[in-house]
Amino acid sequence: MIIPVILSGGSGTRLWPMSRAERPKQLLSLTGAETMLQLTARRTMERSGFASPIIVANAAHADEIESQLAQIGITDAAIVLEPAARNTAPAIALAALAAQPSDLLLVMPSDHVIDDVDAFMTAVAAAEPLCTQGWFATFGITPDAPETGYGYICRGDELAPGVNKVERFVEKPDIETARSYLAAGTYSWNGGIFLFTAASYLGALGRLEPAMLAAATEGMDKARREGGRIYPDPHAFGASPSESVDYAVMEKVDRVAVVPVDMGWSDLGSWDALHAIAPRDAANNAHHGEVVAIDTSGCLIRTDGPLVAAVGIHDLIVIATGDAVLILPRGSSQDVKRAIEQLKRDG
Ligand code: GDD
Ligand code: MG
Repeated sequence: MIIPVILSGGSGTRLWPMSRAERPKQLLSLTGAETMLQLTARRTMERSGFASPIIVANAAHADEIESQLAQIGITDAAIVLEPAARNTAPAIALAALAAQPSDLLLVMPSDHVIDDVDAFMTAVAAAEPLCTQGWFATFGITPDAPETGYGYICRGDELAPGVNKVERFVEKPDIETARSYLAAGTYSWNGGIFLFTAASYLGALGRLEPAMLAAATEGMDKARREGGRIYPDPHAFGASPSESVDYAVMEKVDRVAVVPVDMGWSDLGSWDALHAIAPRDAANNAHHGEVVAIDTSGCLIRTDGPLVAAVGIHDLIVIATGDAVLILPRGSSQDVKRAIEQLKRDG
């Protein structure tokens, strides 16, 4: 049995002003009617071989998550609610402790796009036999730019059809290194999706991050349970070091496999990324909400409130919400963080 583990703890500031602390990216509808969390949960829903999911999330989002899952018919998920964010390695530890040791965990971010779910499922099936024997698997995306926000995986020998040994896993290299990996042609991006058994993960954590394992274990031993909700003990879990699964585990363990897969993946990390995958009109505009556009091209215009009228603008991103409007040139949407930093400074 594979248990989908959905990580929903990110605060995602890059899609401001739509994404806010109280409603981060994974809880928004960005690519269609359903939210990123709902689309993620749907991937494994009602598929044979998959149990109902474990969601690991910020306690502040419990009601919203429960209601979004109920909307798509999932009422039996376990929702582990973190008293404080300690990054992905401890979050996955909580899920592993909520599962049985022999369960396979398919760890998925809650905020990625995967167009070809069948290709994804084929890749998961290819990794399953190795993971049952104690391997850690990750899913590899073909890189098309020297992105420094991703993990890079150097592919080694084939272990099974469509599955390679990982020669080296490098989380977030600098730009020069990323360029050299792209030129080498033997690297994949880490898609941030993992498969391993609960026992393999907890075993690795015990060796590599004993304080983290101890904090998660005590947190779950003393957890408060309310229906499907699990509240780890705040004092115990709060003592965990904060680290990502990539740095804490994936870079360090030996038996790591990568399944290269072409599944229309995007981590939707910016407004530019959304423009790139959104349906666009003949003038390369992607609109959402009440938008009037005249003599406009190459724009992403979204509104969840006020009517937006655009006349004679080109290659801009315009995002309007009830209380904030963002405007910047296409191609520079990573600069949203500069606006947020300034807003923080100004209080
Ligand atoms: N529950 C919980 N708690 N979830 C968390 C936490 C936390 O403390 N921190 C992050 N998450 C969730 C995020 O919501 C997201 O869905 C996922 O875990 C990954 O976290 P990110 O913070 O988005 O990671 P990243 O983008 O820096 O890097 C990872 O993803 C890249 C692909 O998008 C790494 O795995 C990279 O190697 C990878 O290339
Ligand atoms: Mg991310």
